[in-house]
Amino acid sequence: MRYHIISIAALLLSTMALQAQTLDIEHLAGGNTIVRVSEPQNTRYLLLPIEEKAPEAPVKIICGNDLSRTISVRLALDKVDYMVPLDLSEWAGEDIKFLIHLPVDRATGRDAQNEICWSKMKLSDVIDTENREIFRPAYHHTPEYGWMNDPNGMFYKDGEWHLYYQWGPHGSMWNNLTWGHSVSRDLIHWEYRPEAIKPDALGYIFSGSCVVDHNNTAGFGKDAVIALYTSAAEVQSQSLAYSLDGGDTFIKYPGNPILTADIADFRDPNMFWNEEIGKWNLILACGQEMRIYTSDNLIDWKEESRFGQSYGSHDGVWECPDLFKLSVEGTSEEKWVLFCNINPGGPSGGSATQYFIGDFDGSKFTLDNPEMYLDGKALWQDYGKDHYAAVSFSNAPDGRHTMIAWMSNWEYANNVPTMQFRSANTIAREPFLYNVDGKVYLGSRPSPEYAGTGLDKTVKVKGSCTVTLSNENGEEFVITYDQKAMTLSCDRSRSGMVDFSQHFNTVATAPVCRRITSFRIFVDNCSVEVFANDGEVCMTSLVFPSQPLNTVTVNKIK
Ligand code: FRU
Repeated sequence: MRYHIISIAALLLSTMALQAQTLDIEHLAGGNTIVRVSEPQNTRYLLLPIEEKAPEAPVKIICGNDLSRTISVRLALDKVDYMVPLDLSEWAGEDIKFLIHLPVDRATGRDAQNEICWSKMKLSDVIDTENREIFRPAYHHTPEYGWMNDPNGMFYKDGEWHLYYQWGPHGSMWNNLTWGHSVSRDLIHWEYRPEAIKPDALGYIFSGSCVVDHNNTAGFGKDAVIALYTSAAEVQSQSLAYSLDGGDTFIKYPGNPILTADIADFRDPNMFWNEEIGKWNLILACGQEMRIYTSDNLIDWKEESRFGQSYGSHDGVWECPDLFKLSVEGTSEEKWVLFCNINPGGPSGGSATQYFIGDFDGSKFTLDNPEMYLDGKALWQDYGKDHYAAVSFSNAPDGRHTMIAWMSNWEYANNVPTMQFRSANTIAREPFLYNVDGKVYLGSRPSPEYAGTGLDKTVKVKGSCTVTLSNENGEEFVITYDQKAMTLSCDRSRSGMVDFSQHFNTVATAPVCRRITSFRIFVDNCSVEVFANDGEVCMTSLVFPSQPLNTVTVNKIK
């Protein structure tokens, strides 16, 4: 009922707003159109009609007579798939206009001015935020609207978990990358905050990390939040921004970029304070390896070493690193774990998170058992197909290393059957190390915040079995534990919509290094996350069933 009242109020508001403001659309030569907003000071959003199969049209946002930014928008030509709001508050009180070029198709003789987008484009003071899509998760983080990939710059401060993310706010396919921002106090309920770091002349804002500078080493202030991110345009370089209000707004360092290199794939800076050497460390993904740096002030970085050539999977580009120390459960040993996301090259195709276990002296990472990573062999944090770009929160309380991954796969992320938003993140997880027959492996447990919430189902098993999640429409997701072969697999071939990509209809399989006795399973409207033996083996899969897969059936296999 409450929503109803709000939406009537919103409707009234927007009708009033529409009376006051108009769009003046004028078609010019060569497929160019100029759109002027009258009284822009009173307008919050320009609603853009999107058609996903339309080509990207450059939209120049002009403030006064200066170019403020150019964005790419799949403006609808034949039909409107959904509307996307362009938030105008950044230009509040300014005179803005848009110069839009729709590629004129000479072959068909189509004329830009006849395309459907012009009659559907409108101004509004409100946006429709009701979650009507059946695949919108109930408790996983998603963007309010638009595209999302990697989690970025995550940190904890003053009781709040800050999650930034690769956000494409002008449509639900990858583009126009910026840092979206959400905040949670319990890792389950997320609140949207305004866009945190916006694209600039150095490029889109690609992935990166944040730290809380407790000792003011960078000189921006005690407890300033410092972000390092990749500026991505013709080249990739690393830039710095700092926040003096706890992470809501960032000021870009005028000397950006602070770190450059003569290499095309040079991105995703991940930094942390290393108390063993009294310096900051930074790990950067550079093509087929990770580069490791040190710094005293987060601005000037010195390269110390490189890691990776000839170890692990190299069937794709190395991306999104993370590095931290964990204790090996049940022992007094501590090990460093280097996370290295790779795309493609994952165990079931496409993108996935591999890890390496070893030692780190502040300048060089050394593997414990190099033979475990030779000849393309790799260890994976999650063997499902939809776990990528996993990184940890900085400054987490009680020495925790809490991680979140993007719950999709680059093989089909742009094509999954959602519209107003595209992609969700995994639940938060706590990585741990366990020893089996003298070898150390990484597991990931659901974060303690989920205990007692009833969001998960626990199943105890003895020996080989299948655990089937199903719904009334006969759709099912089958988890098979084969104790003889020591494998765990997830089959989503009959789980609902699977044919939107040839890469989606798959069975993912994981090796198991000791007997499985239990499963903890988190099902949401478009995902299944399986934690065997409370996280020793993890498998995350997207699913698109016509109804949630809420029935669990366990069958023994002889
Ligand atoms: C990984 C990635 C990163 C990059 C970002 C761009 O998914 O390719 O390497 O920073 O996405 O959106």
